[in-house]
Amino acid sequence: MPTAHIQAAKEDVAPVVLFFGDPIRSRNAATRYLHDVKEINTVRCAYGYTGYTDNNKRITIMTHGMGQPSLGIYAYELIKFYDVKVIVRAGTCGGYQPELNLLDLVIASEVITDSNWPKLHGLDNDVILKADEDIVNIAKEAADELGVNHHEGKILTSDVFYDQDPNEWKKYQKQGVLSVEMETFALYQLAQEHHIKAISIVSVSDSFVHHQEMTHEQRSQLTKMVQVGIKILEKYA
Ligand code: HPA
Repeated sequence: MPTAHIQAAKEDVAPVVLFFGDPIRSRNAATRYLHDVKEINTVRCAYGYTGYTDNNKRITIMTHGMGQPSLGIYAYELIKFYDVKVIVRAGTCGGYQPELNLLDLVIASEVITDSNWPKLHGLDNDVILKADEDIVNIAKEAADELGVNHHEGKILTSDVFYDQDPNEWKKYQKQGVLSVEMETFALYQLAQEHHIKAISIVSVSDSFVHHQEMTHEQRSQLTKMVQVGIKILEKYA
C-alpha cells in the first residue's frame, strides 16, 4: 500500500534500508552496488531501489532528503507502513575536532540536537540519544575491514546549515562533539520509539577547524562509506 510520500508496494521494500539524503547518491549506489534492481519510488524524486548485494542479500536504498522534518517523514513511513527494522544513514558532516580529516568516517554512537524535535516527541531538548551498541560495533568492524579511517562518538544534529553566529560551533567543540549534520537525531528518536535499529555513518566533507572542503574528486571517494553501509546491512539481511 503506498503512503503519502512513498509509492512502493509493501513487498518491494526490504526490512533493511540504506538511507541517503541525496537522491542522486541513492541512484548511483543502486546502479553500482546492487543487481536485479527495481526502482520502488520516484515521488518527489526521493528515489528508492530494492535489489541484491554482491553477497546476494536483499536491501533497499532510499532517499531521505535534507533535515530532520524530511528524514522524519520517510523514516516514519518506512518503519510504520513497510515494517523496516534496520536503517543505516550514510551522509556527510562538518568536522568540529582537529583530529577529523576530510573523508574520515564518523560513527555516531551518540547524538544531540539544537532543534525542538525532542520536545515535540516528549523528550527534553538537551537529551542525548544513543545508537544500539551491537550496530555500533558492527559499523566499526565494517569500517576496519574496508580500511576506512573512522571515529566513534557524539555528533550534533542541527537545524541550521548557515549559522548566524560564526563561533557557535566552538561551544560544541568544547563539549567534545565530533561533527555536525542535520538528520541523525530524528532517526535515532524514531528508532528508539519504534524499537528498530539505526546507525548514522557520516563522512567528513568539510572541517570547521582546518577550513577545508571536499573536492569533487574526494566526493567520489565517498564510495567507501557506501560499502561500509552495505556491509552493516548484510549482517541483518
Ligand atoms: N553543517 C551541517 N551539515 C553538514 C555540514 C555542515 O557543515 N557538512 C555536511 N553536512
